[in-house]
This record gives sequence, structure tokens and C-alpha cells, in this order.
Amino acid sequence: MEKIVSLSKRRGFVYQSSEIYGGLNGCWDYGPLGVELLRNIKEQWWRAMTYRKDVEGIDASILMHPRVWEASGHVANFTDPMVDCRECKSRFRADQLEDALCGSPAYKGRKAVKCQADGKFTEARQFNLMFKTHIGPMEDSTEVVYLRPETAQGIYVNFLNVQSASRQKPPFGIAQIGKAFRNEINTRNFLFRTREFEQMEMQFFVKPGTDEDWFGYWKRERLSWFVSLGMKEAKLQYHRHEPDKLAHYAKDAYDIEYEFPFGWGEIEGIHNRTDFDLTRHEEFSGKSMKYFDEQTKERYTPYVIETSAGASRSFMAFLVDAYREEEAPTGDGKMETRTVLGLHPRLAPVKAAVFPLVNRDGMPEIGKKIEEAIRPHFRVFYDDSGAIGRRYRRQDEAGTPFCLTVDSQTLVDQTVTVRERDSMKQERVGMDMIVTYLRERIQAE
Ligand code: GAP
Repeated sequence: MEKIVSLSKRRGFVYQSSEIYGGLNGCWDYGPLGVELLRNIKEQWWRAMTYRKDVEGIDASILMHPRVWEASGHVANFTDPMVDCRECKSRFRADQLEDALCGSPAYKGRKAVKCQADGKFTEARQFNLMFKTHIGPMEDSTEVVYLRPETAQGIYVNFLNVQSASRQKPPFGIAQIGKAFRNEINTRNFLFRTREFEQMEMQFFVKPGTDEDWFGYWKRERLSWFVSLGMKEAKLQYHRHEPDKLAHYAKDAYDIEYEFPFGWGEIEGIHNRTDFDLTRHEEFSGKSMKYFDEQTKERYTPYVIETSAGASRSFMAFLVDAYREEEAPTGDGKMETRTVLGLHPRLAPVKAAVFPLVNRDGMPEIGKKIEEAIRPHFRVFYDDSGAIGRRYRRQDEAGTPFCLTVDSQTLVDQTVTVRERDSMKQERVGMDMIVTYLRERIQAE
């Protein structure tokens, strides 16, 4: 993990939030390469989920009516057990004391050590994870609103709006991508558990009785999505929730887990939420949330199968999965270690880099022309500094799948060398065919 965190900072994937002020715990900023990778992950999810005929997209607001969170059960149930250390005054999750790091000033600026205050913790208390704020100028309890802890509720409250506008009939789904906020007691493991993160969620509304089949369908679909974008299948597994560990809304739940360097961790949850949410919103709002089937003349509250992925956690899983160090020839018969981010070309932040072999004989001018031809279609990077081997290594580390080199042969036949990142194989491609070539290679993978 240390290598990945360090590469993330060095290459501009992820920075600590407000770093110059010492950072803000549980918050991270995405740099130039990181924001591209994150956008590409979201774009691939959006295409896979909403370019189907049975799923519509929405973008609901982060702030919602406070009654939403009473209806959803979050005000009463969205809690973690918390203890305080009487000695160092730090606050920990009672079920994660193995990660409790001592907050004593004696360790400030030094490597943190495990809190040794066994027996000195307070009794566990329930701590609600929702962030509260106030709407309008009055900071009293009547004006409290919450930053949403999940995007799902914005979909439930819009179920009938979307259904009637799009003229969909169950089974159909509504998807959205957006920020969610949780006041996590223990933030840890880089992007894994943060206080501000992004979710990619889809709620699929089905007729009761068909829910178990759809649950199985979405469970399979979602795991194959990660594999279709190059994630190693052997690093993925399902974890079924034991009945006593199910969330308050769920009848059945599976996590899709990835094997991170620190162990298996959930990257997506598939939940059978039954009619819990729609029924609760009907009760709390007084508005019917039932669907009327014109053909069969039946009126019913659909069951919901939810697929809930973390965009930030998927980002971290794709990054970890793509990272490798391997021995590679230097070009002069020697071997060296290269760091490669073997990201799927559709996820790679930069799709191609253009290098003139030397800074003379008109090669830079040709290189810049190629760069300009590619730029309207794909993110491209031009680099004319340093030895060609070092330029390749820099791009390997950024995950760029294709490097195009303008060399003396280019001056003769207007072809460039295309070097593919993983195999390091090279082939010659006509300059006028480069955009078509890149498009075909990126789509074919
Ligand atoms: N709507 C259901 C729901 O929110 P969840 O299992 O609490 O279910 C779904 O969260 C996904 O959101 C997780 O699989 C994870 O990828 C992501 N996630 C949840 N809490 C997170 C956090 N504190 N930091 C980063 N990602 C988080």
C-alpha cells in the first residue's frame, strides 16, 4: 500500500486534502491523472448501467428533506458503536479496537502505536454517522438537514416521477452517481474508508416474487463488470452477509470483495431491499409509492434489488490491481525494474504519448502534429525530454497504454513506432491512421 500511496502522490493521482494545513482526516483530492481515472471508471459504469433499455439515470440533490432519513431508518439505525479512551481521550469504533491508535500527545509526529488502554475504555455508545448541517440562517434543531450517507434515497423518492416520465414498467432500474458523506469514526487504508466519497448506485424495481432471480442476475452482472475492465478474477470474491449482520433494510446481501494488500475488503454491495424503502416513504410522506400495472390491473409496491458500488473504492481496487513491478530490458542488453500500471485502456488516464526520438531533423514538428491530431479524440501527452527508455518508463508508471515514437523511418515513409505498454511489442502504423488505430485498440480490449 505504501508504494501505491507514494506513486499516487508522485504521479498526481491522489493527494491528501488540505495537505499544506496538515491534511483533513478521511478526505482526499484527486490530481490530474486521478481525476481522469475516476471519471473513466464512472463513465464505464454509467454506460454499462444506463445504456440498457431497462435502466434510467438521474442526479438527485445531496441535501434532502430531513424526513427522508427518518423514513429510511438512518436517523435511528445508521450508527456505529463507539468507545472513548479515558487515558488518551481518543475515540474508536468498539468493533475495531485492533486498529485503535493511541492519540496521546507523546506520540505526536512519531509512528503511531496501538492504544494500550485495555480496560480504560468507556462503555460503548451508539454514534450516528450522518453529518448534520443547517438550512437557512437559523442554526436550531428545526432547520437540521443531513449530508446524504447514500445516494439510494434520492432514487426511491423519485421512483414514480421517473417511472411515469420514462414510461418504464417493472422490472426496471434507476441509476445515479454522486457524493455521499459518513462521519466514520475510524478512517483508514487510504481511499478505503473516507468521510466523503462517491457512490455508483442502481435500484432495480421488480414485482415481488421475482426478486430472488433478479438478485442472482445482478450479483453476477456486477462481478463481471469489474472483470470486463481487466480486474483479476482471482482477486474477487463474494461474501454473503449472515442473517444477524444484514442491514436494517435487507432480506439478503452479498458483498463483492477485492483482495487488497491489507486483506479482503468490500467494493460493492448487492442487496435485496424488499419493499422496505418504498413502504416507509409511503408511510412517512402520505403519498402512494405503489405501481399500477395497466395490463393486469394489479397495484403493488415493487421490491428493490440494489447494486451499490463505491467509485472511490473501485478506483483504489483498480489501482492496486493494475500495479506491478517487473524486470524489463533497457534496450542496451541490460535489465532493469520497471513499474507498470496495467490499467485497462478504457480506464487509463492518458491513452497515448507522443515522442520525437531526437530533438532535430523535423521530428518534434511531426510529433506535435500527431499530438494535435489525437487531442480532439483522446487524452494525449507529448514528451521530448530525456532518453527514450526513460520516457517509456514514465508512461508505464502512469498507465499509458500506447507510446508513439517519431524516428528516422517516419521521415521516409510517414509511419511511427507504436509501443504497447504491457507486451512492450512495437509495430509501425501510418501517421494518417493513428486515431483509427487507437480507437480500434481501445475498443477491442
Ligand atoms: N445504499 C447502500 C449502501 O450505501 P454500503 O454497503 O453502506 O451500502 C456501498 O455502501 C458502497 O459504498 C460500499 O461497497 C463501498 O464501496 C462504498 N462505501 C461505503 N462507505 C464508504 C466509505 N466510508 N468510504 C469509501 N467508500 C465507502
